[in-house]
Amino acid sequence: MDPKPTCKSRSQISSEKGTGNDLHNHAAPGPLPCDTEAETPRSSRLPGFYELPRSERLRAVQIFSGLGQTEIDALGNVGTLRGELIDVFVENGVGAFSLPLGIATNFLINGRDLLVPMAVEETSVIAAASHGAKLARCGGGFTASSTAPIMTGQVQLLLESDCDFDAVLTERKQQLIDFANRGQERLLARGGGAVDLTWRHIPEIRSLVLHVHINTCDAMGANIVNTMCERISTLMPELLPVGIGLRILTNLTDRRMTEVSCRVPVAALQSAEFEGKQVAERIVMAYQFAAHDVHRATTNNKGVMNGIDPVLIATGNDWRAVAAGAHAYTCQSGSYQPLATWHLEPNGDLCGTLRLPLAVGVVGGVTRLHPTAQAALALLGHPDARELANIVASVGLAQNLSALRALASEGIQRGHMSLHKSNLDLLDRRGGASKE
Ligand code: MEV
Repeated sequence: MDPKPTCKSRSQISSEKGTGNDLHNHAAPGPLPCDTEAETPRSSRLPGFYELPRSERLRAVQIFSGLGQTEIDALGNVGTLRGELIDVFVENGVGAFSLPLGIATNFLINGRDLLVPMAVEETSVIAAASHGAKLARCGGGFTASSTAPIMTGQVQLLLESDCDFDAVLTERKQQLIDFANRGQERLLARGGGAVDLTWRHIPEIRSLVLHVHINTCDAMGANIVNTMCERISTLMPELLPVGIGLRILTNLTDRRMTEVSCRVPVAALQSAEFEGKQVAERIVMAYQFAAHDVHRATTNNKGVMNGIDPVLIATGNDWRAVAAGAHAYTCQSGSYQPLATWHLEPNGDLCGTLRLPLAVGVVGGVTRLHPTAQAALALLGHPDARELANIVASVGLAQNLSALRALASEGIQRGHMSLHKSNLDLLDRRGGASKE
């Protein structure tokens, strides 16, 4: 065991390093009401923490927590990231969190063979994706397409009095689009920029919400969209009796959609214990179960995201944004639905389709700076944003296929547990307690 350092008070930490502004960009500047509270020896209030070099932040964490050097070294391990990148990516950074990175095999997408990098901690996910891809491959692989990368930003206008906003906005629509595009020369040169403007009245909250539709090209586009929304909002009080509410992109990117489908010949589903026809029928029944039951649909969709998220993580994309959009999209009918649908063709083949909003980027931010994300994109052949979305969706569909095949036949535990067992064996060898 490492000797535990003794805890120091917050004022001791502060006096070791000068205090500064508050921690977060988002925090209100200046002292907070809670600053008047009596200091405790282990206060999490650490003014100036964000200004410290990484090593000193770690030291402050150690003083606060009493963690041993082994644990502090684990928190401070930067893995493949250069130390300074951590401060580029996040505030208050101390280290990097490592996830296993594996390669899903067997993918044939729009006629192209691909090895797909996946960053994920869950046993059997990569094996399942590879297995689903192998089944789809028997029917020609995945056919995928994505719309133009149109993101949507919302500008909430707070109506102060009645007005004919339809007439004003219809007349000024192009002018507003042009105004939003000003200062976006690089985006326009790449063929992007604001392309449409729509609006929605929400009388219950006296709000008129502009939807600014923007082609963000190969970027995910959150910053572009937010900038353009803020810009367009400045014109609105001149045109309408409105105050300005929120200005932010929506993650329900329903103009940035991806659709992928695959066909599995029934013979490919045959196993020693199960007829292929029976498995195909039971996969369709599993889909129907999810279509009629929100508890099952949630687990089903967790399986789809098992495929999607690891590719997003490996390529430096915002998986929270995609997850939020996917779940919102799939309950647009009023009930939460399975993300992918499955049916039988007249010849008995099993066909699946996954359609979802999928906003991914291959330029900018983490994607450009993270060495592993860069290598992952290189492995995928430097796809553009639409091609990457096609790949991500294909892995989601493969994952769903593989999970449903197992659930509809031998059950999930046989394959999952055989892989999971190696984790437990390792824990045992390390003397870790296993409850399973
Ligand atoms: C486990 O991570 C994912 C599954 O539960 C998905 C499903 O049930 O469809 C196996």
